[in-house]
Amino acid sequence: FPRKSQLVIFAIWFLCILSSLAITLVLYPQQILTPARGSSVKLSCETNYDYKKCGLLHVVWHNTSSQNDDKITELTDPKKYLTAVNETVNEGNRRRRQVVTEILNLRPKDNGRYQCQAKCNNGEEARGHFITITVRGGTVMIKQFLKLSISLSLLGILKLWEKATSIVNFIW
Ligand SMILES: *[C@@H]1O[C@H](CO)[C@@H](O)[C@H](O)[C@H]1NC(C)=O
Ligand SMILES: *[C@@H]1O[C@H](CO)[C@@H](O)[C@H](O)[C@H]1NC(C)=O
Repeated sequence: FPRKSQLVIFAIWFLCILSSLAITLVLYPQQILTPARGSSVKLSCETNYDYKKCGLLHVVWHNTSSQNDDKITELTDPKKYLTAVNETVNEGNRRRRQVVTEILNLRPKDNGRYQCQAKCNNGEEARGHFITITVRGGTVMIKQFLKLSISLSLLGILKLWEKATSIVNFIW
């Protein structure tokens, strides 16, 4: 019988073989994010790829809620997103690339599912898990703001009234 440690070593070896066979892998956990309205959120995608087999790798976050053509689903508009990329060399021909895209000034219409997609020069493709974004406090904040501005203007009217009456009293 093989011992437990031997089994563990075998499993690790097997995983290494599997991951070295895949030309490109997209790795990050599935998540549900609930950022507040007006805040920003960071989507982090990690890929591991064989640069000899893959060639140039294109990695980008996609908005799967927008059903237009493929180009538009990419989160690349610099007015709305900030993206940072870095790459390190692993062992052999494998490299690790991290792409972090920050979505700025979140609105309730940004609710949806986002996914990182990696595409090799040779057409080989890999996709990651869906990240669900639900923006918190969309209409609640508007209601609070309205209440606040109504009470402020009431306060202003009261102040004016006080002034007016004091002036009248003074003249009197
Ligand atoms: C994703 O697409 C939907 C539908 O087009 C849009 O309303 C939303 O603002 C997009 N999200 C981001 C973060 O751009
Ligand atoms: C990329 O840079 C960030 C910080 O700038 C760091 O946390 C991360 O580990 C780096 N990723 C890689 C793949 O080197």
